[in-house]
Amino acid sequence: MSAPKILVTGGAGFIGSHVCVALIAAGLRPVVMDTLVNSDPRSLQRVARITGVEPPLVRGDVRDAVALDRAFAEHGFDAVLHLAGLKAVGQSVSDPIGYYDVNVAGSLALVRAMERAGVRTLIFSSSATVYGSTQRSPIRESAPYAAVNPYGRTKVMVERLLADLARADGRWGIACLRFFNPIGAHESGLLGELPHGPPDNLLPYVSQVAAGERCHVVVHGDDYETPDGTGVRDYVHVMDVAEGHVAALRHATTHRGLLTVNLGTGRGASVLEVISAFERASGRTVAWRVGPRRPGDAPAYWADVQHARDRLGWHARRGLDQMCADSWRWQLGNPRGFDDPDPALPAGFVSAST
Ligand code: WQD
Repeated sequence: MSAPKILVTGGAGFIGSHVCVALIAAGLRPVVMDTLVNSDPRSLQRVARITGVEPPLVRGDVRDAVALDRAFAEHGFDAVLHLAGLKAVGQSVSDPIGYYDVNVAGSLALVRAMERAGVRTLIFSSSATVYGSTQRSPIRESAPYAAVNPYGRTKVMVERLLADLARADGRWGIACLRFFNPIGAHESGLLGELPHGPPDNLLPYVSQVAAGERCHVVVHGDDYETPDGTGVRDYVHVMDVAEGHVAALRHATTHRGLLTVNLGTGRGASVLEVISAFERASGRTVAWRVGPRRPGDAPAYWADVQHARDRLGWHARRGLDQMCADSWRWQLGNPRGFDDPDPALPAGFVSAST
């Protein structure tokens, strides 16, 4: 009996490559479809160094029906994890057509290809941005949609599409996973986040300041109604998010219908708490300056995580200090990303391939 084959769209990216590690560890066999617009195929070689298995790469776009049909015919997938998509909030404001095309039309094309192939188990990478910036935390999955940018609205549209599909056809097993703020890196230091240009997100920016690549962090506002005045978010380790995908896949394989769950820790951390945690993890000073608030930023939000515990038996196991320590190991070992020769595995790390 060969291991179940799972199509992972966007599987060469930051979260996708970590998901591949978790799938292989669970005895599954990922096949990656990726345009490589926002990712590097060498991440899959790093997956092989960690797990002993290199996921096959199908270079393709989920909007391409011919490429999808060819991949389904060749591999005979048992299920699909759909992570491919554009995810920069600011960019979505200036390029809404691109975001609706890739995120919404791409998801529709994928679901049509699944229907043609008779594959009806799907895990969708959604986002906490569907909640917008005014919900009271902790935020439950029952909170209303209130997305405030095109990126968040594309995630709402795809969630609605999948809900209508599950209602119309009981043969589908679907899970929508609402990521809060995934950060960190695999403990081996072989995989991590590879922002193109100046990072928009906090953690990669802090990491580059700690490494001396940037001079200081601009703290976007310190006059919010939060304990230290800076923005609060629910940071969750990328490997916890990856393992959440495996738990959701197990559920969707044995249950039909739609399940929507938050993937977070249930705890908020402020910008200054993240900076302090990173200083502890790296032993470096992270210089920061207060700047103006960033338009569209919510003061504070974090997840209610009970539903994921109850329905998936999943909860985040790694804390902020480990997220920062794992990020720092990735930063130190790969200052130029995958252009660096493979860093040595940390002492004591036993990869599946050894
Ligand atoms: C976190 C906090 C900033 C940078 C975004 C997307 C979301 C999801 C995760 C895809 C905020 C503050 C940041 C900096 C700062 N991506 N900050 N200085 O905005 O919560 O979420 O990434 O699903 O869709 O919106 O993450 O890391 O940008 O910001 O002070 O240089 O750090 O104001 O309070 P965000 P972030």
